[in-house]
Amino acid sequence: EKGGFKHFMLKEIYEQPRAVRDTTLGRISLDTGKIFLDEMQITADDFRRFEQVYITACGTSWHAGLAAKFMLERLAKIRVEVDYASEYRYRDPLVGPNDLTILITQSGETADTIAAQRESKAKGSKTLAVCNVVGSMIAREAAGTVYTHAGPEIGVASTKAFTAQLTALFLITLHMAEVRGKISYDDARKYMEELAQLPGKLEHVLKLDAETEELAKKYHRASDFLFLGRGIHYPIALEGALKLKEISYIHAEGYPAGEMKHGPNALIDENLPVVIIATQDTRDANSVLKYEKTISNLQEVKARSGTVIAVATEGDPHIADHADHVVFLPEVPELLSPILEIVPLQLLAYHIAVRRGCDVDQPRNLAKSVTVE
Ligand code: M6R
Repeated sequence: EKGGFKHFMLKEIYEQPRAVRDTTLGRISLDTGKIFLDEMQITADDFRRFEQVYITACGTSWHAGLAAKFMLERLAKIRVEVDYASEYRYRDPLVGPNDLTILITQSGETADTIAAQRESKAKGSKTLAVCNVVGSMIAREAAGTVYTHAGPEIGVASTKAFTAQLTALFLITLHMAEVRGKISYDDARKYMEELAQLPGKLEHVLKLDAETEELAKKYHRASDFLFLGRGIHYPIALEGALKLKEISYIHAEGYPAGEMKHGPNALIDENLPVVIIATQDTRDANSVLKYEKTISNLQEVKARSGTVIAVATEGDPHIADHADHVVFLPEVPELLSPILEIVPLQLLAYHIAVRRGCDVDQPRNLAKSVTVE
């Protein structure tokens, strides 16, 4: 059942090229540049009329929502707010009939996310689910569902569902950008070509397995870890930290790279491994600018004798001068980069947990589906 893998989590990490491909399949047209979402009770007119998007979710799915904010604001030019479902429902959100609510959930059964959905519906908002389980509660109650075709996820730590969610959210973004007239079909087609290449690039990234195992060997005794990123890479820093704490029980924090000097720099010493996401899309001026800022944050960590593990873009000639270890990823448009960036962080968490003798698939105190509030 584990297909020759030692754990479900590792098997599911390796299924990501397939999960991303299946989630894209049949939804893009490389000829016309048009997106096809599943049948739903949210029309093109609805997508044009929405003034704001509220995204609510829990855990890993919430991290996918944070990344989606960058996609939607940049391409579909719509305001986005992202909330933890457990917070959203109790803060009397100003959501209304002119807003779209997106629920992101692997299981479709998370109690807080169900409650958040009901709160939005009660206030007249249409709800769109991004969900991995056909016929689950949230999918049944939604006006529309874009299913992630990740396949059943058994490991408590979410992996392939996350990259499939990022893929589905990117498709929703392209669709909204198209119907709202914010992107040309030609530009959309360029993104689709990149999407079509992602599974191949993911296969390539999975070859980092041995390298991350080496890193685990070196750092599995650490008592704390820091993960840093800027912009859309920040949610990936959060997700990298969540993966590590969830399965290895090491205290880990994700932080926006630029916030370090406002407090966390005080934590840095030679015993604290700092994972920094320092990728860039060299064709995108904004991405390069953020990269340069991240490099100066990285230098600040080094100046305080911190240990730096950088996740960077292949062909970066300078990064190795600044970091103790570098993991290289293929270049992709910035909005798609989270799908690749999370993979080495999943593998790192996995190998560290295995070395520490933890129960990777069934971490203590956790359930796969959280059906209580
Ligand atoms: O099924 P859901 O996506 O609604 O679940 C949300 C969280 O419980 C889930 O992502 C949790 O954080 C994972 N164990 C993280 O790996």
